[in-house]
Amino acid sequence: METFDEKPMVDLKRGIGDTKSARKKQKLEEEMKKEGCELELDEKVAAGCKTEPEPSENVLSNSKVEKVSPTLLLHTGARIPTVQFGTYKLKGVESFEATLSALQQGYKGIDTATCYDNEKQVGEAIAASGVRREDLFVQTKLWRSYSGIDPKTKKPRCDTWLRKSLKLLGIGKLDLWLMHWPGPGRHLNYPPVKMGMERPKQVKPENATRMAPLDWTPAMRLETYGLMAKHVPESVSALGVCNFSPRQLKELLAYCTENNLPRPAVVQNECHPYLPAREVRAICRENRIVFQAYASLGAGMLPLLQEPTVTSIATRLAVSPGQVLLRWGLQQGVALLPKSCKTERQQENLKVWHFSLSTEDLALMDKLDKSEENQNTMAGWLREHDPDFY
Ligand SMILES: NC(=O)c1ccc[n+]([C@@H]2O[C@H](COP(=O)([O-])OP(=O)(O)OC[C@H]3O[C@@H](n4cnc5c(N)ncnc54)[C@H](OP(=O)(O)O)[C@@H]3O)[C@@H](O)[C@H]2O)c1
Repeated sequence: METFDEKPMVDLKRGIGDTKSARKKQKLEEEMKKEGCELELDEKVAAGCKTEPEPSENVLSNSKVEKVSPTLLLHTGARIPTVQFGTYKLKGVESFEATLSALQQGYKGIDTATCYDNEKQVGEAIAASGVRREDLFVQTKLWRSYSGIDPKTKKPRCDTWLRKSLKLLGIGKLDLWLMHWPGPGRHLNYPPVKMGMERPKQVKPENATRMAPLDWTPAMRLETYGLMAKHVPESVSALGVCNFSPRQLKELLAYCTENNLPRPAVVQNECHPYLPAREVRAICRENRIVFQAYASLGAGMLPLLQEPTVTSIATRLAVSPGQVLLRWGLQQGVALLPKSCKTERQQENLKVWHFSLSTEDLALMDKLDKSEENQNTMAGWLREHDPDFY
């Protein structure tokens, strides 16, 4: 049985202008501008701008520092590692071992989610790694079934799940809390997704139109964001959303303005050469939101790593296809979350700073775009392709 926090609501009027002095705000904006927080890195990355490792950590001359993830500035003033470790599909002891290995390789950020069912092992790996909390960026996500207010208890469902995530991760505060999906869960399959992707799936036709939660409405998306915002800044430093379409993101930004809510600091969406997510990235740029790409390597589902354009660039530059795909992401100005359970690949995925793709290489990779207009996911669930589905 779920229990809910009795925590008093915190003041929602805590936009950046309310919490920082005008001077501090101006300084932050200037810093973001200077850093290219619009993340138009194409030339700047190649030229080694400040979003790369610090000058004292010049990756070109010191192979050791290739392990250090450089950071990007969030509009909250905090910094986020540009390359973090993704943990989707890692389960049980493998999640512990892979996360510990990633931290030992130098990853400074971990991405998990309630529905990955590995927050406990991720937390144990963080503790075992000896990495200081202040040196690590920890982000997790609220699963879509936990939207809205529970009609029985009249309390926000997200409160329970935030408390659970913090407890499992063994930390007092999240650096980033993301809404996992803009729409509801579905009761299509049994057992539920939290039982793991390998669970024996049994499609229940009677569930085809049922949603989780059963009382879900499109207004619940915005309402849930507002409920999540009540935990900023006490238990959560910054908020983000995942898988939002351009329309959904614009609606959310308007809602934040109307309701004086902190706007998302990060948008995490699928993004790779097949699905470059240009429209959402442009909205992020305009609003100083860091775009975090998932499935950069094809998520084990899309043949990006075997794509001849990618493999031929990799051969020419003497790097791996995975490094080419990750470098493509960096040169689009996005943050990355490569996942691997193998130490060598974890290392390889961090070594993306010592080379760059030329304008010609980028143009060739542009031709790989297979996305339909407004398509939101390719490796993800197909129904979310249609941004107006919800
Ligand atoms: N917000 C969302 O809805 C959402 C959705 C999906 C993912 N994510 C996040 O984004 C992260 C990344 O996405 P993802 O895990 O789906 O896919 P991904 O990082 O694109 O790809 C992971 C796959 O690539 C393999 N791989 C990793 N490094 C490689 C390399 N250097 N060479 C060849 N193969 C390599 C991995 O296999 P091995 O493990 O065997 O090496 C695994 O099969 C996730 O882990 C998760 O944290 C978020």
